[in-house]
Amino acid sequence: MAHKVDFERWEQEARFFDAEASKRSVSVSPIDDRVVQRYQSPGRLFPKEYSCRVLGDLRGKRILDVGCGEGENTLLLARLGAMVTGIDVSPKAIELGSARAKASGLGGMTNFICSPIAAANLPDGYFDIIWGDNVLHHLLPVLDETLRSLARAAKPGAQFLFIEPTNLNPTLRRIRFLVPVHTETTPGERPLERDDLAIVQRHVPDLKKRHFVFFGRLTRFLLPDGAYENASLARRALVRALHVIDYGALTIPSMETLGGMTVLHGHRPLSREESVDVSLRAAG
Ligand SMILES: C[S@@+](CC[C@H](N)C(=O)[O-])C[C@H]1O[C@@H](n2cnc3c(N)ncnc32)[C@H](O)[C@@H]1O
Repeated sequence: MAHKVDFERWEQEARFFDAEASKRSVSVSPIDDRVVQRYQSPGRLFPKEYSCRVLGDLRGKRILDVGCGEGENTLLLARLGAMVTGIDVSPKAIELGSARAKASGLGGMTNFICSPIAAANLPDGYFDIIWGDNVLHHLLPVLDETLRSLARAAKPGAQFLFIEPTNLNPTLRRIRFLVPVHTETTPGERPLERDDLAIVQRHVPDLKKRHFVFFGRLTRFLLPDGAYENASLARRALVRALHVIDYGALTIPSMETLGGMTVLHGHRPLSREESVDVSLRAAG
Protein backbone atom coordinates (compact mmCIF):
# COMPACT_ATOMS: atom_id res chain seq x y z
CA MET A 1 0.00 0.00 0.00
CA ALA A 2 1.26 3.50 -0.84
CA HIS A 3 2.30 5.78 2.05
CA LYS A 4 1.72 9.53 2.44
CA VAL A 5 5.37 10.14 1.57
CA ASP A 6 4.90 8.27 -1.75
CA PHE A 7 1.94 10.47 -2.71
CA GLU A 8 3.97 13.59 -1.88
CA ARG A 9 6.85 12.43 -4.08
CA TRP A 10 4.55 11.49 -6.96
CA GLU A 11 2.92 14.89 -6.75
CA GLN A 12 6.27 16.70 -6.71
CA GLU A 13 7.50 14.72 -9.71
CA ALA A 14 4.26 15.21 -11.61
CA ARG A 15 4.25 18.97 -10.92
CA PHE A 16 7.87 19.39 -12.04
CA PHE A 17 7.48 17.37 -15.26
CA ASP A 18 4.03 18.84 -16.01
CA ALA A 19 5.68 22.27 -16.03
CA GLU A 20 8.45 21.00 -18.35
CA ALA A 21 5.88 19.48 -20.74
CA SER A 22 3.77 22.65 -20.73
CA LYS A 23 6.75 24.58 -22.13
CA ARG A 24 6.72 22.28 -25.16
CA SER A 25 3.07 21.37 -25.71
CA VAL A 26 2.48 24.32 -28.06
CA SER A 27 4.06 22.38 -30.93
CA VAL A 28 3.08 18.73 -31.06
CA SER A 29 5.80 17.76 -33.48
CA PRO A 30 6.11 14.26 -34.93
CA ILE A 31 9.34 12.34 -34.33
CA ASP A 32 12.22 13.61 -36.48
CA ASP A 33 13.15 11.14 -39.26
CA ARG A 34 16.85 11.99 -38.82
CA VAL A 35 16.65 10.72 -35.24
CA VAL A 36 15.06 7.47 -36.41
CA GLN A 37 17.76 7.02 -39.07
CA ARG A 38 20.49 7.52 -36.49
CA TYR A 39 19.15 4.67 -34.33
CA GLN A 40 18.30 2.35 -37.22
CA SER A 41 22.01 1.70 -37.62
CA PRO A 42 23.32 2.82 -34.23
CA GLY A 43 26.95 3.38 -33.39
CA ARG A 44 28.36 2.73 -29.93
CA LEU A 45 29.76 6.11 -28.87
CA PHE A 46 26.62 7.55 -27.28
CA PRO A 47 24.60 5.90 -24.50
CA LYS A 48 21.35 5.68 -26.45
CA GLU A 49 23.01 4.46 -29.66
CA TYR A 50 24.87 1.83 -27.64
CA SER A 51 21.57 0.84 -25.96
CA CYS A 52 19.81 0.32 -29.28
CA ARG A 53 22.77 -1.77 -30.42
CA VAL A 54 22.54 -3.94 -27.30
CA LEU A 55 18.80 -4.51 -27.83
CA GLY A 56 19.18 -5.47 -31.50
CA ASP A 57 16.17 -6.04 -33.74
CA LEU A 58 13.08 -4.61 -32.01
CA ARG A 59 10.47 -5.66 -34.55
CA GLY A 60 7.52 -7.29 -32.81
CA LYS A 61 8.97 -6.83 -29.31
CA ARG A 62 6.82 -5.56 -26.43
CA ILE A 63 8.61 -2.81 -24.57
CA LEU A 64 7.75 -0.99 -21.35
CA ASP A 65 9.23 2.53 -21.41
CA VAL A 66 9.46 3.33 -17.69
CA GLY A 67 9.19 7.04 -16.85
CA CYS A 68 8.60 7.74 -20.55
CA GLY A 69 8.17 11.50 -20.07
CA GLU A 70 7.01 13.12 -23.30
CA GLY A 71 7.52 9.90 -25.21
CA GLU A 72 10.76 10.70 -27.02
CA ASN A 73 11.95 7.10 -26.62
CA THR A 74 8.46 5.56 -26.80
CA LEU A 75 8.12 6.98 -30.31
CA LEU A 76 11.65 6.05 -31.32
CA LEU A 77 11.32 2.43 -30.15
CA ALA A 78 7.95 2.17 -31.93
CA ARG A 79 9.50 3.50 -35.16
CA LEU A 80 12.14 0.78 -34.75
CA GLY A 81 9.31 -1.78 -34.87
CA ALA A 82 8.35 -2.43 -31.23
CA MET A 83 4.93 -2.24 -29.55
CA VAL A 84 5.65 0.23 -26.76
CA THR A 85 3.84 1.05 -23.53
CA GLY A 86 5.00 4.30 -21.99
CA ILE A 87 4.26 4.92 -18.32
CA ASP A 88 4.79 8.16 -16.44
CA VAL A 89 3.46 9.97 -13.38
CA SER A 90 3.16 13.33 -15.19
CA PRO A 91 -0.27 13.83 -16.86
CA LYS A 92 0.98 16.66 -19.09
CA ALA A 93 3.97 14.63 -20.29
CA ILE A 94 1.70 11.67 -21.08
CA GLU A 95 -0.74 13.95 -22.92
CA LEU A 96 2.08 15.36 -25.02
CA GLY A 97 3.58 11.90 -25.64
CA SER A 98 0.33 10.47 -26.89
CA ALA A 99 -0.39 13.54 -29.05
CA ARG A 100 3.08 13.19 -30.57
CA ALA A 101 2.49 9.46 -31.18
CA LYS A 102 -0.69 10.28 -33.13
CA ALA A 103 1.06 13.07 -35.05
CA SER A 104 3.79 10.55 -35.95
CA GLY A 105 1.30 7.92 -37.15
CA LEU A 106 2.30 5.66 -34.24
CA GLY A 107 -1.02 5.55 -32.37
CA GLY A 108 -1.37 1.82 -33.11
CA MET A 109 2.15 0.93 -31.92
CA THR A 110 2.05 2.85 -28.66
CA ASN A 111 0.03 2.94 -25.48
CA PHE A 112 0.45 5.51 -22.72
CA ILE A 113 -0.36 5.02 -19.03
CA CYS A 114 -0.41 7.90 -16.59
CA SER A 115 0.45 6.39 -13.20
CA PRO A 116 3.26 6.09 -10.70
CA ILE A 117 5.00 2.80 -11.47
CA ALA A 118 4.26 1.41 -8.01
CA ALA A 119 0.52 1.95 -8.43
CA ALA A 120 0.21 0.74 -12.03
CA ASN A 121 -1.72 -2.37 -12.86
CA LEU A 122 0.78 -3.84 -15.33
CA PRO A 123 0.17 -7.31 -16.77
CA ASP A 124 2.38 -10.09 -15.35
CA GLY A 125 5.10 -11.65 -17.54
CA TYR A 126 4.17 -9.51 -20.54
CA PHE A 127 7.12 -7.39 -21.70
CA ASP A 128 10.16 -8.58 -23.69
CA ILE A 129 12.11 -5.47 -22.75
CA ILE A 130 12.00 -3.12 -19.78
CA TRP A 131 13.58 0.18 -20.85
CA GLY A 132 14.22 3.26 -18.70
CA ASP A 133 16.09 6.39 -19.73
CA ASN A 134 16.99 8.68 -16.83
CA VAL A 135 14.32 7.40 -14.50
CA LEU A 136 15.81 5.17 -11.77
CA HIS A 137 17.61 8.14 -10.23
CA HIS A 138 14.15 9.62 -9.55
CA LEU A 139 13.10 6.46 -7.72
CA LEU A 140 16.01 5.82 -5.37
CA PRO A 141 14.03 5.55 -2.10
CA VAL A 142 11.85 2.86 -3.72
CA LEU A 143 14.39 1.33 -6.09
CA ASP A 144 14.10 -2.23 -4.79
CA GLU A 145 10.27 -2.30 -4.84
CA THR A 146 10.19 -0.63 -8.26
CA LEU A 147 12.54 -3.20 -9.79
CA ARG A 148 10.52 -5.99 -8.20
CA SER A 149 7.30 -4.77 -9.83
CA LEU A 150 9.09 -4.28 -13.16
CA ALA A 151 10.43 -7.85 -12.93
CA ARG A 152 6.86 -9.07 -12.41
CA ALA A 153 5.74 -7.33 -15.59
CA ALA A 154 8.69 -8.77 -17.56
CA LYS A 155 8.65 -12.12 -19.38
CA PRO A 156 11.02 -14.76 -18.04
CA GLY A 157 14.45 -13.90 -19.47
CA ALA A 158 13.32 -10.42 -20.63
CA GLN A 159 15.96 -7.75 -21.25
CA PHE A 160 16.35 -4.86 -18.82
CA LEU A 161 18.09 -1.72 -20.00
CA PHE A 162 18.53 1.56 -18.14
CA ILE A 163 20.48 4.68 -19.08
CA GLU A 164 21.28 6.49 -15.84
CA PRO A 165 23.54 9.20 -14.46
CA THR A 166 26.05 7.59 -12.10
CA ASN A 167 28.47 8.84 -9.49
CA LEU A 168 31.15 6.25 -8.87
CA ASN A 169 33.91 8.73 -8.07
CA PRO A 170 33.28 10.92 -4.99
CA THR A 171 36.18 13.29 -5.83
CA LEU A 172 34.69 14.05 -9.20
CA ARG A 173 31.31 14.68 -7.58
CA ARG A 174 32.87 17.20 -5.17
CA ILE A 175 34.51 19.00 -8.10
CA ARG A 176 31.16 19.04 -9.93
CA PHE A 177 29.60 21.00 -7.08
CA LEU A 178 32.38 23.59 -7.32
CA VAL A 179 31.50 24.28 -10.96
CA PRO A 180 28.64 26.81 -11.14
CA VAL A 181 26.55 25.04 -13.80
CA HIS A 182 22.89 25.15 -12.86
CA THR A 183 20.66 22.18 -13.63
CA GLU A 184 16.99 21.91 -12.70
CA THR A 185 16.38 18.88 -10.51
CA THR A 186 13.50 17.36 -8.56
CA PRO A 187 13.84 16.92 -4.77
CA GLY A 188 15.82 13.80 -3.86
CA GLU A 189 17.15 12.96 -7.30
CA ARG A 190 20.87 12.19 -7.57
CA PRO A 191 23.08 10.01 -9.76
CA LEU A 192 23.21 6.31 -8.88
CA GLU A 193 26.01 5.21 -6.55
CA ARG A 194 27.59 1.80 -5.98
CA ASP A 195 24.96 0.70 -3.44
CA ASP A 196 22.18 1.57 -5.87
CA LEU A 197 23.87 -0.46 -8.60
CA ALA A 198 24.05 -3.39 -6.17
CA ILE A 199 20.26 -3.18 -5.77
CA VAL A 200 19.80 -3.22 -9.56
CA GLN A 201 22.10 -6.24 -9.76
CA ARG A 202 19.96 -8.11 -7.25
CA HIS A 203 17.12 -8.07 -9.78
CA VAL A 204 19.31 -8.35 -12.88
CA PRO A 205 22.05 -10.79 -11.83
CA ASP A 206 23.90 -10.76 -15.18
CA LEU A 207 24.03 -6.94 -15.09
CA LYS A 208 26.58 -5.34 -17.42
CA LYS A 209 27.69 -1.73 -17.11
CA ARG A 210 29.08 0.45 -19.90
CA HIS A 211 30.28 3.89 -18.83
CA PHE A 212 30.02 7.07 -20.92
CA VAL A 213 30.52 10.82 -20.68
CA PHE A 214 33.64 12.21 -19.10
CA PHE A 215 34.72 14.86 -21.63
CA GLY A 216 31.24 14.36 -23.04
CA ARG A 217 30.04 16.55 -20.15
CA LEU A 218 31.10 19.49 -22.36
CA THR A 219 28.37 18.56 -24.84
CA ARG A 220 25.92 20.81 -22.99
CA PHE A 221 27.98 23.83 -24.08
CA LEU A 222 28.19 22.64 -27.70
CA LEU A 223 24.52 21.69 -28.08
CA PRO A 224 22.65 24.17 -25.92
CA ASP A 225 19.20 22.79 -26.92
CA GLY A 226 20.49 19.21 -26.70
CA ALA A 227 19.47 18.48 -30.29
CA TYR A 228 22.38 16.77 -32.03
CA GLU A 229 20.54 16.56 -35.36
CA ASN A 230 19.98 20.35 -35.51
CA ALA A 231 23.61 21.26 -34.76
CA SER A 232 26.10 22.41 -37.39
CA LEU A 233 28.53 19.88 -38.89
CA ALA A 234 31.41 21.41 -36.92
CA ARG A 235 29.59 21.12 -33.59
CA ARG A 236 28.55 17.56 -34.30
CA ALA A 237 32.13 16.66 -35.20
CA LEU A 238 33.35 18.15 -31.91
CA VAL A 239 30.73 16.28 -29.90
CA ARG A 240 31.68 13.04 -31.63
CA ALA A 241 35.37 13.68 -30.97
CA LEU A 242 34.68 14.07 -27.23
CA HIS A 243 32.73 10.82 -27.22
CA VAL A 244 35.45 9.00 -29.19
CA ILE A 245 38.00 9.96 -26.51
CA ASP A 246 35.57 8.92 -23.77
CA TYR A 247 34.84 5.63 -25.48
CA GLY A 248 38.53 4.73 -25.49
CA ALA A 249 39.30 6.05 -22.01
CA LEU A 250 36.28 4.69 -20.15
CA THR A 251 36.86 1.09 -21.26
CA ILE A 252 40.09 1.12 -19.20
CA PRO A 253 39.00 -0.42 -15.86
CA SER A 254 40.84 2.12 -13.67
CA MET A 255 39.22 5.00 -15.62
CA GLU A 256 35.63 3.83 -15.83
CA THR A 257 34.52 5.56 -12.62
CA LEU A 258 35.12 8.89 -14.38
CA GLY A 259 32.04 8.31 -16.54
CA GLY A 260 28.94 10.26 -15.56
CA MET A 261 26.40 8.19 -17.44
CA THR A 262 26.05 4.41 -17.46
CA VAL A 263 24.12 1.96 -19.57
CA LEU A 264 22.99 -0.90 -17.33
CA HIS A 265 21.70 -4.01 -19.04
CA GLY A 266 20.98 -7.65 -18.43
CA HIS A 267 18.11 -10.08 -18.08
CA ARG A 268 15.37 -10.98 -15.66
CA PRO A 269 16.42 -14.41 -14.40
CA LEU A 270 14.19 -17.46 -14.71
CA SER A 271 12.54 -18.85 -11.59
CA ARG A 272 13.18 -22.54 -10.83
CA GLU A 273 9.78 -23.52 -12.31
CA GLU A 274 10.46 -21.46 -15.45
CA SER A 275 13.86 -23.16 -15.92
CA VAL A 276 12.27 -26.60 -15.60
CA ASP A 277 9.62 -25.53 -18.11
CA VAL A 278 12.28 -24.35 -20.59
CA SER A 279 14.27 -27.61 -20.20
CA LEU A 280 11.14 -29.71 -20.69
CA ARG A 281 10.22 -27.78 -23.82
CA ALA A 282 13.78 -28.11 -25.18
CA ALA A 283 13.62 -31.89 -24.55
CA GLY A 284 10.42 -32.00 -26.65
C1 LIG B 1 14.33 12.81 -16.40
S1 LIG B 1 12.73 12.39 -16.92
C2 LIG B 1 13.08 11.22 -18.21
C3 LIG B 1 12.01 11.16 -19.26
C4 LIG B 1 12.28 10.21 -20.43
N1 LIG B 1 12.61 8.87 -20.01
C5 LIG B 1 13.37 10.75 -21.31
O1 LIG B 1 14.49 10.25 -21.30
O2 LIG B 1 13.08 11.73 -22.02
C6 LIG B 1 12.14 11.33 -15.61
C7 LIG B 1 10.68 10.92 -15.78
O3 LIG B 1 10.34 10.00 -14.74
C8 LIG B 1 8.99 10.26 -14.37
N2 LIG B 1 8.76 9.70 -13.02
C9 LIG B 1 9.32 10.09 -11.85
N3 LIG B 1 8.85 9.32 -10.84
C10 LIG B 1 7.98 8.44 -11.40
C11 LIG B 1 7.16 7.38 -10.87
N4 LIG B 1 7.16 7.09 -9.57
N5 LIG B 1 6.41 6.68 -11.72
C12 LIG B 1 6.39 6.97 -13.06
N6 LIG B 1 7.13 7.96 -13.61
C13 LIG B 1 7.92 8.67 -12.80
C14 LIG B 1 8.91 11.79 -14.41
O4 LIG B 1 7.58 12.26 -14.49
C15 LIG B 1 9.73 12.09 -15.66
O5 LIG B 1 8.94 12.17 -16.82
